[in-house]
Amino acid sequence: MDGQLLPVLLLLLGASGLWGRGPGPEGALEEPPEEEPPEEEPPEEDGILVLSRQTLGLALQEHPALLVEFCPWEAEGIAEWLRRRVGPSATRLEDEEGARALIDARDVVVIGFFQDLQDKDVATFLALAQDALDVSFGLTNQPQLFQKFGLTKDTVVLFKKYDEGRADFPVDEELGLDQGDLSRFLLTHSMHLVTEFNSQTSRKIFAARILNHLLLFVNQTLAPHRELLAGFREAAPGFRGQVLFVVVDVGANNDHVLQYFGLKAEEAPTLRFINTETTKKYMPADRGPVTATSVAAFCRAVLGGEVKPYHLSQEVPPDWDQRPVKTLVGKNFEQVAFDETKNVFIKFYAPWCTHCKEMAPAWEALAEKYRDHEDIVIAELDATANELEALPVHGFPTLKYFPAGPSRKVIEYKGTRDLETFSKFLDSGGELPAEEPTEVPGAPFPEMPENTTEPKDEL
Ligand SMILES: *[C@@H]1O[C@H](CO)[C@@H](O)[C@H](O)[C@H]1NC(C)=O
Ligand SMILES: *[C@@H]1O[C@H](CO)[C@@H](O)[C@H](O)[C@H]1NC(C)=O
Repeated sequence: MDGQLLPVLLLLLGASGLWGRGPGPEGALEEPPEEEPPEEEPPEEDGILVLSRQTLGLALQEHPALLVEFCPWEAEGIAEWLRRRVGPSATRLEDEEGARALIDARDVVVIGFFQDLQDKDVATFLALAQDALDVSFGLTNQPQLFQKFGLTKDTVVLFKKYDEGRADFPVDEELGLDQGDLSRFLLTHSMHLVTEFNSQTSRKIFAARILNHLLLFVNQTLAPHRELLAGFREAAPGFRGQVLFVVVDVGANNDHVLQYFGLKAEEAPTLRFINTETTKKYMPADRGPVTATSVAAFCRAVLGGEVKPYHLSQEVPPDWDQRPVKTLVGKNFEQVAFDETKNVFIKFYAPWCTHCKEMAPAWEALAEKYRDHEDIVIAELDATANELEALPVHGFPTLKYFPAGPSRKVIEYKGTRDLETFSKFLDSGGELPAEEPTEVPGAPFPEMPENTTEPKDEL
C-alpha cells in the first residue's frame, strides 16, 4: 500500500444494540441482530477502509497517505479530531476564571488536576483527550485550583450540567493512570442517569457497554405515566455504571422495541430488564406501582439472580392443528415437538425473511403430501415472536426434525429446501441418503464453464 492512495469511506460505526434495532430492510437479515464486534482494527472491504473515530488513528499509522472521503455528518467531528492532533488536546488552566469558562461552555467537561505536568499520567490523559470529541478537556497544575475544587491529590474530574454534576476519578498513586479505566469511567459518568430512547440516543446507549438495561415503557402523552419518571430517576444513581436506565415512549415509533420485549403499548407503564450479553429478559413478578423502591428492588432481584428470565410466546391459536402445516408457538412447542409417538419436522421462520417466504410453498406441499401419515407432523413456528429456552434459533429459516421416541433427539436439516429432498429426508427417518448432494448440484468438474448446456445434475 506504500505511497498508494487508498480510498476511505468514513462511517461512524454506531454500536447498534440488539433490542434497539429494527429488523432492517425486508429480508436483508439472514441472522438475528448481533452486537458489533469491538473495533480493534479497521475492517477492510474491497480496498475501502471503513473507519470510525476510534480506528482512524490506527489507519493513519498503517497507510501514510489516505484519501479520506468524509461523510457529511462526521465532517465536523473530524475537523475537531484533526485540530486536537495538531494543537493541544486539553486547555491549560491557570486560574479559576479560566476553569469556570471551560466548565460552562459544554455539557460535559473533563479537567485533569496533576501536580506535575511532566508526569507520564499527563501524557496518558492527553492521549485520551485526543479522541474523546464529545467532551472538552482542561489541564492544570495550579495549587489554587486544586484547593478551589477540594482536591489534594492528582484527580481527573468530570463536570456535567445534569444529574450529579460532578464525578471524580482519583489517579492511583502506585499504578498510575490507566487509559482504559479512565475511558470507561468517563463513558459511564457522562451518560445521563436516565436516557430517553430514540434514534439519536440509541447509539450512545449501546456504545456505553453497560450490559444491563432497565427499561421503563410509558405513554408520554399521559400525565400519570410521566409522573412515574421521578421514582425511576430516583432509583438510578444506586446502579450507576451497572444498570443503564432507559425510558421508552410507547407512542414514539418504538414498535420494534415493544416487539422485541413482546409488549403491547397498552401494557405501559411497565418495566423490563435485559442483559445485553446473555440477551435474557426479565419482568417484574407483579404489576405493582413503579416507585423508586419497587424499581430498585426489581433491579436488585434480577442482579441477585432471584428472577427467572421470560421467553416470548404467542397464544396457541384455536385452529393451530386444523391446517396441513401446524402452527406452533412457545406454549405448545414442547408438547408437540417432543411427542414420543410422532416424527415432527418444524420450520422456524421470521415473518420478514425472504428465504422463508421462498420455501413456504414447498413446505405446504410437504404437509399436504404427508397429511395422512398419522406419525408425521409438519409444523412451523414464528421464532421472532416465540422463544424457546432450550432451543435458541440463530438464523432463518431453521429446519429441525424431532424423531419419535423418548430420546428427545433433535436433527438439524441442512439439505436443499424442496419437496423432493424433504420427502427423502422424512422417508429415511431423518437422514439424507449419502449420495444425495445436499447443496445445489455443482458441475462435476470445477473448470467447466458456468453456462454449459450439459445437464449438470447427471452424476
Ligand atoms: C397514548 O395515550 C393516548 C391518550 O390516551 C392515546 O390516545 C394513545 O393511543 C396512546 N398511545 C399508544 C401508543 O397507545
Ligand atoms: C456459453 O454458452 C454458449 C451457448 O450456449 C456457447 O456458445 C459458449 O461457448 C459458452 N461459453 C463458454 C465460455 O463456454
